[in-house]
Amino acid sequence: MSLTLNTPLDMHLHLRDGEMLTHIAKSSGKTFSGAIIMPNLVPPVCTKEDVLAYQERINTAMGEEVFTPYMTLFFKPSYDKAFLSSVRDTITAVKLYPAGITTNSEGGVSGFDVEELRPTLEAMSELNIPLCVHGETNGFVMDRETEFASIYERLATAFPKLKIIMEHITTRSSVDLLGKFDNLYATITLHHLLITLDDVAGGMLQPHLFCKPIAKRPEDRDALLEVALNAHPKVMFGSDSAPHPKEAKEACGCAAGVFTAPIALQVLAELFEKHDALENLQDFICTNAQNIYGVRPPSKTITLEKIPFQVPSDYNGVVPIYANQEIAYSIV
Ligand code: NCD
Ligand code: ZN
Repeated sequence: MSLTLNTPLDMHLHLRDGEMLTHIAKSSGKTFSGAIIMPNLVPPVCTKEDVLAYQERINTAMGEEVFTPYMTLFFKPSYDKAFLSSVRDTITAVKLYPAGITTNSEGGVSGFDVEELRPTLEAMSELNIPLCVHGETNGFVMDRETEFASIYERLATAFPKLKIIMEHITTRSSVDLLGKFDNLYATITLHHLLITLDDVAGGMLQPHLFCKPIAKRPEDRDALLEVALNAHPKVMFGSDSAPHPKEAKEACGCAAGVFTAPIALQVLAELFEKHDALENLQDFICTNAQNIYGVRPPSKTITLEKIPFQVPSDYNGVVPIYANQEIAYSIV
């Protein structure tokens, strides 16, 4: 059995920089037509020059692959309308991190004072630049996303024309929030559709499944599955594939991030097939994102074949999800 997917998009991707970028870029470039590229480099992507230079390094690393990097800026409350106008055509979104909440987010926002953020967010709204948000407080780890809901509500109410993307949602309460505000959207990762906290820490600790936000309860995963498998028009696939070297994961002080890019599409196909929802996969991995972001990626056809694939132990020293295990689909 074979399956054809058109122009798959990954609306939340970490490609890193330097040697890591060179090694992992094609894991995405081979299967995806484009991706929203996260700006949490060290130092973060904050200027037009940063964006253009990073975009060029990505294009170089992709080589011949047909792939559009949709660039983002790391949110700063100091961005004014003149600056945002000058970068409007170079970026697809701005990514907001609460300070210190995840990998390389130290320069993010603290406090979430709407008035302090107003000039930047109003300018983004006027320029139709979507705001992508890592929605976690620094509360108890299992409650961080739910606690952030009140901030999403404040932002969605104060800036009704601003498109706000709740990145990598992991809870039923975030799914419920989607229905309450017209301007809230969400990305969902592959791993949060597959695992719960039990898979991370229920037995021997699994560092390669450790990420922010942490995987939650079975009922949360069920809520995510429901909207993903039905290709709810306000949700789109965003892998949050976040490679770290094996030594940084298998360490005392494990880095957060799950590396899924090389097998994301194949495993999504397996998951949607298992739930008898293959007819919705195309919307989840492409059409919804095109509608929400208005992007028009280059056309790319990917054929998956129902031939078992043995996932490698690592890709240049980065351990993927399902390392050394077999998955049902191979890329032809
Ligand atoms: C991401 C990373 O490693 O950059 N880590 C993660 O656990 N998801 C950052 C992020 O998206 O939170
Ligand atoms: Zn991320």
